[in-house]
Amino acid sequence: MTSTRGGASFQSGLVLGIETSCDETSVSLLDRDGVVGANLIASQIERHRPFGGVVPEIASREHLKHLMPLVTKATADAGVSLDDVSAVAVTAGPGLIGALLVGVAAAQALAWGRGLPLYAVNHLEGHIVSPYLNREGSATPMPKRYLALVVSGGHSSIYDVRPGTEAPVAMLNRTRDDAAGEVFDKVAKFVGFPYPGGPHVEKAGRLATTSRFSFPVSKFKDGSFDFSFSGLKASAIRLARTEGLEGAASDGVVSEELADFCRGFQTAIVEQLVDRLDGLWSALSGERDRPTEIAIAGGVAANGALRDAIDSWGRRKGIVVRLPEKVFCTDNAAMIAFAAIVMGEPAADPTRIIARSRFQPGTRFPDSRG
Ligand code: KG4
Ligand code: ZN
Repeated sequence: MTSTRGGASFQSGLVLGIETSCDETSVSLLDRDGVVGANLIASQIERHRPFGGVVPEIASREHLKHLMPLVTKATADAGVSLDDVSAVAVTAGPGLIGALLVGVAAAQALAWGRGLPLYAVNHLEGHIVSPYLNREGSATPMPKRYLALVVSGGHSSIYDVRPGTEAPVAMLNRTRDDAAGEVFDKVAKFVGFPYPGGPHVEKAGRLATTSRFSFPVSKFKDGSFDFSFSGLKASAIRLARTEGLEGAASDGVVSEELADFCRGFQTAIVEQLVDRLDGLWSALSGERDRPTEIAIAGGVAANGALRDAIDSWGRRKGIVVRLPEKVFCTDNAAMIAFAAIVMGEPAADPTRIIARSRFQPGTRFPDSRG
């Protein structure tokens, strides 16, 4: 069996994907064309909800409880056995260290015990390739170069992606403060929505009847394409307080005013994301081998207003936009196995993989303590 970075060919068999970086335990089975045979996700949201955010210790314990039963169920659902698996791919970072360790230890045991290659996958590289996965059939063919906007609870960045090359991922911008999903969650919490708040804000915003609340799109004086959401967070919370909206949704009722507020706040996030995509796309458009597609990924990519805005921006500009199916937006192991297939490199020694709470995509994962 061989697989090379970018060469992307497992000669035979299935890739077993394992994801435990945060609050979803997920196991997948993919063939080398990216056909998803199984993609099981055990969400822990209900366990963390009383605390208003993810509790790392609870996350690790839940992963321990669910991971191996999910491996058994994935093979059963796909109608295969572990003998049909020819490689293991695991999220090795970034994420909660205790949570990552559960997945990495299980993947090491499986790979070592069965003599299989092990891929230590960067979680963000998983998100970056996820828009090309399909629930049915083979993966969508990838272009030589595309821009990927990854927006989740912990990350907001645009990446320059060249699958099949030695340096497949380069970060073009980042957030200088909060991530987009984090701001959704914090503002949602202030007005009384349960965790995670993003989907509640979206749902409430759909009931809006006016655009009476609006927020400016922040720009940097130096012309940087970085994101910044903390100013928006502060002004949204200030406005919610003066309008008497603090805790307003706690009784489960969304007033007209709250709906209008949610729409205005969500629009501001969407406008900033589109503004930076547009800026970076234009900045690269003079290059001969410029990107030819835009892909969006991460939990916030499930947001309908963002999907619509990027889709219509792409249509106006004549750019192909890849929107991930919703099941591949939030954390899942299919994207981890797929990243191993399209841009992975097997660890020289599976027993020496190290879980990393912080890790930049596009940099090589160290698999040795030496
Ligand atoms: O990628 P993800 O599942 O986990 C990580 O953070 O890695 O993303 C979760 C984030 C949360 O902040 C959640 O509020 C946000 O994605 N989110 C949404 C929507 N669905 C999930 N934000 C806005 N609108 C949504 N529909
Ligand atoms: Zn994620």
